[in-house]
Amino acid sequence: MNNRAKIIDGLKKAMEFYRELGFEYLPAKIEQKRSPLTPDPCPLPLNKDIALQALRDEIGDCTRCKLSRKRTNLVFGEGPHDAGIMFIGEGPGRDEDIQARPFVGEAGKLLTNLIVKLGLTREEVYIANIVKCRPPNNREPDEEEIATCMPFVERQAEIIKPGVIVSLGRISAQSLLGTRISISKIRGRFFDYKGIPLMPTFHPAYLLRNPKDKWLTWDDMKKVLEKLKGN
Ligand code: URA
Repeated sequence: MNNRAKIIDGLKKAMEFYRELGFEYLPAKIEQKRSPLTPDPCPLPLNKDIALQALRDEIGDCTRCKLSRKRTNLVFGEGPHDAGIMFIGEGPGRDEDIQARPFVGEAGKLLTNLIVKLGLTREEVYIANIVKCRPPNNREPDEEEIATCMPFVERQAEIIKPGVIVSLGRISAQSLLGTRISISKIRGRFFDYKGIPLMPTFHPAYLLRNPKDKWLTWDDMKKVLEKLKGN
């Protein structure tokens, strides 16, 4: 395809994309900061912003499952929409529920340190959870809650299309991969998640309780960096 044909093809795809989202007109261009590890340059960066905002609007003030009854805030996720790495945890805890931001408590501090050790900043990665509302008393989300919320994180991943997804902990890995295999058996190697390499690793909260296993997660993260560099 020559350059002109590529541009026309890109525009056609973008217009179809907007039409599916219910737009009748093309919105104006908005500047967007790019992450240094961006694997998937989007021909029209606005696409991802619009698609994620549309998803957020669709979730709305969600009451689809019983977690909504006790939550303070829904925690959608945060980060650049063209991030190279997307971390997916289990569900918000107490601090996240209060601040409406993922991984801002003790486990979040450990995750942030890990990100920095990778040579990145928190602002350069996307962070989300399997369920978007806090399970009371930090219990694990049940199957019904996970099934209700899964389509949203799936669509977040599809829109962001990061170079690598890192699933944090058993619930995240098992839910995304549709398996019941234990996290210690599946961590440390890549799986395919809808065309995106997915690396399961331990949950930061587990690492707080079992610091001796931090080096295993570090090993996993080194593989993630290699993958992003194309090795
Ligand atoms: N644990 C998670 O799984 N997600 C958060 O956002 C915080 C703690």
